[in-house]
Amino acid sequence: MEKMNVLLVGAGGRESALAYKLLQSPVLKQLYVTEDHPGFAAANLVEDWENKHYDLVVVGPEKPLADGIADRFRERGVPVFGPSQSAALLEASKVFAKQFMQEQNIPTATYTVCHSKEEALSSLYAPCVVKADGLAGGKGVYVCQTKEEAERAVEEIFAGRFGSAGKRVVIEEFLEGPELSLIAVCNGSSAIPLLPCRDHKRRFENDKGPNTGGMGAICPPPDFDRKEIRGIMETVIDPVLQGMNDRGTPFIGALYAGLMLTQNGPKVLEFNVRFGDPECQPLMMMMKSDLLTLLYAAATGDMLPEPVWNEGASCCVVVCSKGYPFGPKKKALIQNLPENTKMLHVFLAGTEMKKEELWSKGGRVLAVCARSKDLESAREIVYKQLGQVMFEDMSFRNDIGVMK
Ligand code: AMP
Ligand code: GLY
Repeated sequence: MEKMNVLLVGAGGRESALAYKLLQSPVLKQLYVTEDHPGFAAANLVEDWENKHYDLVVVGPEKPLADGIADRFRERGVPVFGPSQSAALLEASKVFAKQFMQEQNIPTATYTVCHSKEEALSSLYAPCVVKADGLAGGKGVYVCQTKEEAERAVEEIFAGRFGSAGKRVVIEEFLEGPELSLIAVCNGSSAIPLLPCRDHKRRFENDKGPNTGGMGAICPPPDFDRKEIRGIMETVIDPVLQGMNDRGTPFIGALYAGLMLTQNGPKVLEFNVRFGDPECQPLMMMMKSDLLTLLYAAATGDMLPEPVWNEGASCCVVVCSKGYPFGPKKKALIQNLPENTKMLHVFLAGTEMKKEELWSKGGRVLAVCARSKDLESAREIVYKQLGQVMFEDMSFRNDIGVMK
């Protein structure tokens, strides 16, 4: 295979992990990035990046996909790993995703769509889950145990907390069970599952506090039998590919199914149209085979090579600023980061370089990720290292990867 010039769009923890893995590829010529970011050690910043040619474009975040970046590159004949604007609606609109799941008979929570505050307030029950329709960085979902909590959620969303993303809400049945993130790489007509992961979405220990983009992730969760992946491919992933093809909007890219493993089988909580953040970090540490070859095959509609995985497990803990997910975003000097090795990596997110020093910009700042023979020892390594890391206002959860 000829060596490739690759553009990576986005600059957060997930993109740091994609860059880490792409930079190891034997078929990479140059890695180009769209933003100057400390997470991209050996990559090249490119000006006017939307108008250049590459052998492959890899899109990290949902926002540019929802804005149609993949369509714009494809129109110019550039292969893109990432879905079209129409296919990205699976993540960009929860109303669309629910209706699509209903059409395709994909197992999910029962729901109602409400177009006004009054309609929503009169549709509430408890427990229930209230979701803003549009993109809200993982923060537009309220799991409500009482009707009062649900009313507050509706008030907040219609007061404009998420802007136009909160013009409609979905109210859905509360589901229980362990969660699983299953990401499948799709080439438009077929899909291949990656190792399953589990995210920890709540801000505080014991799953307390508001939902966030994710406070840590493990790969693979030891309590999940991998034989069940086949069933999820058949009931969830394949029907998405089929349904998207029927609509004339084939799905190319990473299809992320956020699942609740209920007593009545796996049910979809949400779809994302990209790699998860932080799930991507432990996934990239577990992947042994080449990522670039896989993403290129998906982007060009070729047969997908079966990924090869390292033994053991990986654990990733996100370090954020105390105010996350709301703010304030304090800037602070970061000290005592551990050295990266084959088994331990610090993925940088909300950071910047100032005079050769690494500074936190607030939000999710970085993630410490280790791979080891099993989850328990990977956890120990991460938390030992986290005892050293220092910046003003830092915070992290102590129970990532604890099996209950
Ligand atoms: P979502 O962004 O839709 O995946 O929601 C974020 C998080 O909210 C999920 O990871 C779950 O922890 C929780 N959640 C979402 N939908 C439900 C539901 N129907 N029942 C219980 N918890 C849910
Ligand atoms: N970690 C969940 C997400 O990426 O949406």
